[in-house]
Amino acid sequence: MSRSTRASINLQAIRDNFNQLRPPTGKAIAVIKADAYGHGAVTVASALSSVCDYFAIAICDEAAPLREAGIKQPLLVLEGPHHVEDCKAAKAHQLILLAHNREQLDWLDALGSERPRVWLKVDTGMHRLGFACEQVAPLLQHYPWLREQPTVLASHFACADEPDNPNNALQLKRFTALTQTLGLAGCMANSAASLCNPQSLFDYCRLGIGLYGASPVTGHPARDYNLTPVMSLQAQIIALHQVKQGETVGYSQTWTAPRDSLIATVGIGYADGYPRHCPSGTPVVVRSQRASLVGRVSMDMITIDVTEIPGVTLGDDVELWGQQLPVDEVADFAGTISYELITRVSARVPRLPV
Ligand SMILES: Cc1ncc(COP(=O)(O)O)c(C=O)c1O
Repeated sequence: MSRSTRASINLQAIRDNFNQLRPPTGKAIAVIKADAYGHGAVTVASALSSVCDYFAIAICDEAAPLREAGIKQPLLVLEGPHHVEDCKAAKAHQLILLAHNREQLDWLDALGSERPRVWLKVDTGMHRLGFACEQVAPLLQHYPWLREQPTVLASHFACADEPDNPNNALQLKRFTALTQTLGLAGCMANSAASLCNPQSLFDYCRLGIGLYGASPVTGHPARDYNLTPVMSLQAQIIALHQVKQGETVGYSQTWTAPRDSLIATVGIGYADGYPRHCPSGTPVVVRSQRASLVGRVSMDMITIDVTEIPGVTLGDDVELWGQQLPVDEVADFAGTISYELITRVSARVPRLPV
């Protein structure tokens, strides 16, 4: 490894967060799609495999590396099959396909005894994926094997991160009525709903962002829910420069030194997944103290003002987010959400389980 830029992945924190979030009854499904939100799906699944009975991925293609690594739990595929071939491979790989349209059900219908387990996605108000509530009973009639499995109904909140949003109650009411009328198990809550809306827990919940130690609830830091950051994104100082008052730093001269300043160049940039949209003033941590990003984020480097931090030297570690700096804070500066920052750490950055 020629450069020390890395994402440390704290395995104990993943287990602690899972135990913190898992409900007292029902099954918790750990959502490990998008390479476990950028943390490494095999690493995360392996860390949780003794405590977690189900994992969820977005697409069938995400199953192979997990199976090759010996992960045995059923994998719930949140987008269901994208192609008839996905349906054929699913049984052998012990996938549960979350079907959301008729075409998928017809592919599955044709498979007979080779059919994998199928759950049904119900649209209770998000209007992204799923069958309308009133379509579900006719589907159960049309595809009797759905009843025989039996199927589980799944839905997703549009605004779970805003616990007071009235849309949550509306979606929950529709989903509760449907599961009760049809006598089927339900799966609805994500991390935020698991924490804030216990009535939405049903038989299965799907835990994503909270597992990774970022805040599931808008406006509340993760520590309010005893969640610990799992990923710490770190890089080293590769250059130090004294810059005179009035000089500018970086592309397009967007930052001008308000006083004589010590500027450190750090070996991480937008090609590594550090957001280019972070403005001057975005915090980083050096020697356990906060410093600020100054100037534009470059492809492979950023510049930070370390004037106030005594003893800074070449090779010092800089934390971009993690144990000492919640990713939610950096996301606010970047005008985005933690999910985007952690999933976009690029393949160039090694993930180091610790
Ligand atoms: C369908 C579905 N369920 C559950 C989750 C997990 O949500 P969270 O990461 O907010 O816990 C996601 C996340 O994107 C999702 O798309």
